[in-house]
Amino acid sequence: MASNRIDIRPLTPRIGAEISGVNLGEPLDKSTFDIIHQALMDHLVIFFRDQHITPEQQIAFGRHFGDLHIHPAAPSLPGLPEAMIIHADANSSYANGEDWHSDVSCDEVPPMGSILRIHTLPPFGGDTLFANMYTAFETLSPPIRAMLDGMTALHDGELLYRGRYTNSDSGRVYPKAVHPVIRTHPVTGKKALYVNSFFTSRILELSKAESAAVLQMLFRHIETPEFSCRFRWQQNSVAFWDNRAAQHQAIWDYFPATRSGVRVTVAGDRPF
Ligand code: SIN
Repeated sequence: MASNRIDIRPLTPRIGAEISGVNLGEPLDKSTFDIIHQALMDHLVIFFRDQHITPEQQIAFGRHFGDLHIHPAAPSLPGLPEAMIIHADANSSYANGEDWHSDVSCDEVPPMGSILRIHTLPPFGGDTLFANMYTAFETLSPPIRAMLDGMTALHDGELLYRGRYTNSDSGRVYPKAVHPVIRTHPVTGKKALYVNSFFTSRILELSKAESAAVLQMLFRHIETPEFSCRFRWQQNSVAFWDNRAAQHQAIWDYFPATRSGVRVTVAGDRPF
């Protein structure tokens, strides 16, 4: 479970582990990379505390895991398109990620993982929930699993992004993509439920009414408390989640207080 200096402590049996003994601001050697990558595969979301790193160091950490993804709509730090701004305060009309989702699943090639560092916290609240989509798949009854396996669904960026980040996006086109309802993780080979309430608008093999009913059932199933963990942030905590196997939801319970951070997102591959 731990190398000489790196310690991995699971948060729940199903999802989440806190890793200590790593400074994400330093280049990773191969054995440290392997430990972190394996922990991500095993626990789906991993957490690090007290990471006093710059956005450039966060970007360099992300690059160890692959090319970086540029968000199709959200603002980023000046001169750093890979550093997406996560922010809500007294003037906000939304906070990022308020419903269960897998990041930017509306892209043809959605992100593999997301690395979020929170540097400004409200006095209380602002936790993030993460849920295990392998378990969500495995706990569906066999006839439902058999029905869904092989089906495809539309993930539509319009639903979330139109008018969200700017009032003047007429003429702008947001991504849409069709993905399998059940995807196979490219590293672990395990099957995961891959529909979410932010982006998934329709199961294409079903009638409109059937699709709406099945999606509602699945969205409720994803919320099952036993599939999830709840992360309580501290200043300079970092969370790194695998969008292929986990969904997450940010809790905006701290209005009008401020919560701010930077997200670096690692590019993924086409779901199959
Ligand atoms: C997100 O969905 O990237 C936001 C997560 C959070 O703010 O905790």
